[in-house]
Amino acid sequence: MTKPLNIGMIGYGFMGRAHSNAYRKVNNFFDLEYRPVLKAVCARDAAKAKAFADTWGYESVETDWKNLLARKDIDAVDICTPNNLHRDIAIAAAEAGKVILCEKPLAMNSEEGEEMCRAVEKAKVPNIVWYNYRRVPAVTFAKQIIDSGKLGKIFHYRANFLQDWTISADLPQGGAGLWRLDVAAAGSGVTGDLLAHCIDTAVWLNGGISNVTAMTETFIKERKHNLTGKVEKVGIDDACAFLCRFDNGSLGLFESTRYARGHKALYTFEINGEKASIKWDLHDLHRLQWFDHRTEGPLRGWSSIHVTDGDHPYMAKWWVPGLAIGYEHSFVHQVADFLDGLAKKQPVGPTFRDALETQKVCDAVLASAKSGAWTNVG
Ligand SMILES: NC(=O)c1ccc[n+]([C@@H]2O[C@H](COP(=O)([O-])OP(=O)(O)OC[C@H]3O[C@@H](n4cnc5c(N)ncnc54)[C@H](O)[C@@H]3O)[C@@H](O)[C@H]2O)c1
Repeated sequence: MTKPLNIGMIGYGFMGRAHSNAYRKVNNFFDLEYRPVLKAVCARDAAKAKAFADTWGYESVETDWKNLLARKDIDAVDICTPNNLHRDIAIAAAEAGKVILCEKPLAMNSEEGEEMCRAVEKAKVPNIVWYNYRRVPAVTFAKQIIDSGKLGKIFHYRANFLQDWTISADLPQGGAGLWRLDVAAAGSGVTGDLLAHCIDTAVWLNGGISNVTAMTETFIKERKHNLTGKVEKVGIDDACAFLCRFDNGSLGLFESTRYARGHKALYTFEINGEKASIKWDLHDLHRLQWFDHRTEGPLRGWSSIHVTDGDHPYMAKWWVPGLAIGYEHSFVHQVADFLDGLAKKQPVGPTFRDALETQKVCDAVLASAKSGAWTNVG
């Protein structure tokens, strides 16, 4: 018999759907002690929340997250709201003794993130942040390769996250669907939204980042604000590039923009080591590119590993070797690992404390872009 874990999810947008899908599937593919139960979904519009609840099988609806947190029948709170609400909900959820799953970035800035870490650590509640790309099998496999020492000493880490959806000057900022352009809701632009993913993966794969030098640009300076109806200054970074040094001595190069015409969600990374290199591309997410300098000279070259075999991370849980899985499965894997950690009473990363590291790098990047100087992290 599995033990129920009653989920209360706040926000039913893009991530609300991705997480609900993961909760519904996880026990069909993973043997776990716990079973998520879709107990309640919370959003301000009761009719829309009810429609979402009916589609995804939630038992009930709340329109105020404080009422959700007050419910005794909710064990775990899943925060799928815009970034400016993460802190208040997470701190209140910790005080209410709830297990917490929080979307990324952890917070609007490191100060908020610190408060959130203190709250979950004081309340001793299990917590995790949805940096889901760690659990794409090819990315998890990259981690195994690096940890086994097969790359040798690492010299370079290079990552991009490129999109093109905000190029039109007519696009408004703020409100449903466009809160990412509103600094008051998002905290920052591509730095907290996209580079945060690249930084989380990088720190996980290659260790801490010590200092950074960055530049940002806001190409469209003013946009109509959907909530006020007025044309207002745009406060987010539309594009950001930074150089950094890792604690292990390697050099990092990161770029993100929403102005790379033709790219929708091109997240890539490449790592160059003394003995070998690897690279990965979200558009072809089940493949890991591998170059091994130890291969006999004439046969040496990049090879493309189809990460779908039974001995690749997570893949034995799915279909048969050779058959690919996709984006949604990274969320299923995160839920599976988290539930396994709950059963074993062990923390599962990225915890709030892990995600705070990424937040500190984002803060240093934004501070450096402002001052024009190299900036230490933390
Ligand atoms: N892990 C990832 O890959 C990933 C991808 C996308 C978004 N995110 C993160 O997930 C979070 C949500 O992003 P999204 O794309 O799902 O946004 P979205 O706009 O699609 O959905 C946001 C939801 O929050 C709800 N909401 C807003 N204010 C609320 C309030 N006061 N009370 C209750 N509900 C409220 C909205 O009604 C909406 O349902 C953000 O923090 C974002 O950075 C993470």
